[in-house]
Amino acid sequence: MPEKIKLRKFVDELPIPYTLSPKKRSYNSSYYEVTMKEFSQKLHRDLGPTRLWGYEGTFPGPTFDVMKHETVFVKWMNNLPNKHFLPVDTTIHGSEITLPEGRTVVHLHGGRTPAHSDGYPEAWFTRNFEQTGPLFEREIYAYPNMERATMLWYHDHTVGITRLNVYAGLAGCYFIRDNHEQSLNLPNGTYEIPLVIVDRSFNPDGSLYYPSKPDQNVAGLPHPSLVSPFDADTILVNGKVFPYLDVEPRKYRFRMLNASNSRILTLKMDSNQPFYQIGTDGGFLETTVKLNEFILMSAERVDLIIDFSQYYGQTMILKNITKSASPETTDVMQFRVTVPLKGTDTSSLPYYLGPIVRLQSSMAKRTRYLTLVRIKDQYGRSLNLLDGKMWMDRISERMEVDTVEIWRIINIIDDDPHPIHLHLVDFQILDRQPFDVSHFQKTGKLIFTGPPVPPHPYERGFKDTVGTPFGYVTSIIARFGPFTGRYVWHCHMLEHEDYEMMRPMEVFKAPGEMYSG
Ligand code: C2O
Ligand code: CU
Repeated sequence: MPEKIKLRKFVDELPIPYTLSPKKRSYNSSYYEVTMKEFSQKLHRDLGPTRLWGYEGTFPGPTFDVMKHETVFVKWMNNLPNKHFLPVDTTIHGSEITLPEGRTVVHLHGGRTPAHSDGYPEAWFTRNFEQTGPLFEREIYAYPNMERATMLWYHDHTVGITRLNVYAGLAGCYFIRDNHEQSLNLPNGTYEIPLVIVDRSFNPDGSLYYPSKPDQNVAGLPHPSLVSPFDADTILVNGKVFPYLDVEPRKYRFRMLNASNSRILTLKMDSNQPFYQIGTDGGFLETTVKLNEFILMSAERVDLIIDFSQYYGQTMILKNITKSASPETTDVMQFRVTVPLKGTDTSSLPYYLGPIVRLQSSMAKRTRYLTLVRIKDQYGRSLNLLDGKMWMDRISERMEVDTVEIWRIINIIDDDPHPIHLHLVDFQILDRQPFDVSHFQKTGKLIFTGPPVPPHPYERGFKDTVGTPFGYVTSIIARFGPFTGRYVWHCHMLEHEDYEMMRPMEVFKAPGEMYSG
């Protein structure tokens, strides 16, 4: 671990990533160009500048703000060096593989995207498209934006080094708007703020620290050969270490994203004031949920309102109260209610937000049982696998397009929950049910030890990432479509994803269908 750097908290103002403008716009479509490059940025008053990789040379990358059903074309251009500045490990997929270190591919997380534009991990490309991965298809990506209004995010997804590329800074926000959202009269403009929360560690010279081997992630680790998530020691929001934000005594809408590689956040205000949650990964909830605290795992988003109107003159801290958090990482950022109210706050905090169409278990054409297990690879490292299979194993999750399936994820890895993410779909969480793990390990049979637990109130909308705790069967339901082709599902702890906890999945058209009608 690096020599500890003590950075003063709450000395930098929270930056707001700028909104990207299209190069061209026409009726119902727009065209953007985004360049990935190496650059340096001040992440704290007393630090750096720090070398990073980012979209348009900023971290987080610029924000997309688009309308539902507007087709967005993006030419993602790689202008990164060929050599990574973070330690690349070449032992991926159980062998020594040398791939270009400056490779990247972009995934729009939470997007219903045609397979050719989804950012398949093997569709990577290097600077100026000089080298491309085996499944590289195109230079301009197309996003139809057919999902409900929500905040997605875009980030690197290249095979084997996603954890390094995202850690280096390749991530940004992506808003989809619609008329329904506008009709809700929520706080907007300067009163609607994205909060991209990440953790990072630094060397004394201000450069990013990342362990050189995946099994060196945790000092004094009980299992030195475990590929473990890396929890860094400093929290940043929108690219600043422990920032502050001056606010007016009124309602604000915050679009929060945990873009950490692996850190699990449990967020709470030290003033004990509530959060009014209005949306999840996949858009608005049916009704607003009042929360005192909530868990946000890697890639999860919440859309919520904080009302500062009763707090004029006060200062409060957004806390991370996850048990394993070090004293340093229990603070996230500070709010100072010091700015006099401009005019009056005419925004609403609606209770009813709109209908959610529930997928019923009876609609499912198939139920899959998928077990999260831990194995040892030939280097003696412990790896976590999805249903016992590695990335290169044959595709087993093949779904007929437009059919509904239930996935029951059985977690027998005695460790933190894994945030499981599926591309292409928004799913609903049915429940989590505890079972007898040792009986399951001996016989392969499930004996439940308690009733199914419904999802948390703050998870009862559409999700694309779900926490799957040890000793529970976590059941989700999704309709696979409308696109066909090859996608992935994976653990969103990026150290796990890079080390085999990712699987291809395929959505196919039933044979014969093309001749019918
Ligand atoms: Cu946010 Cu497949 O990833
Ligand atoms: Cu995991």
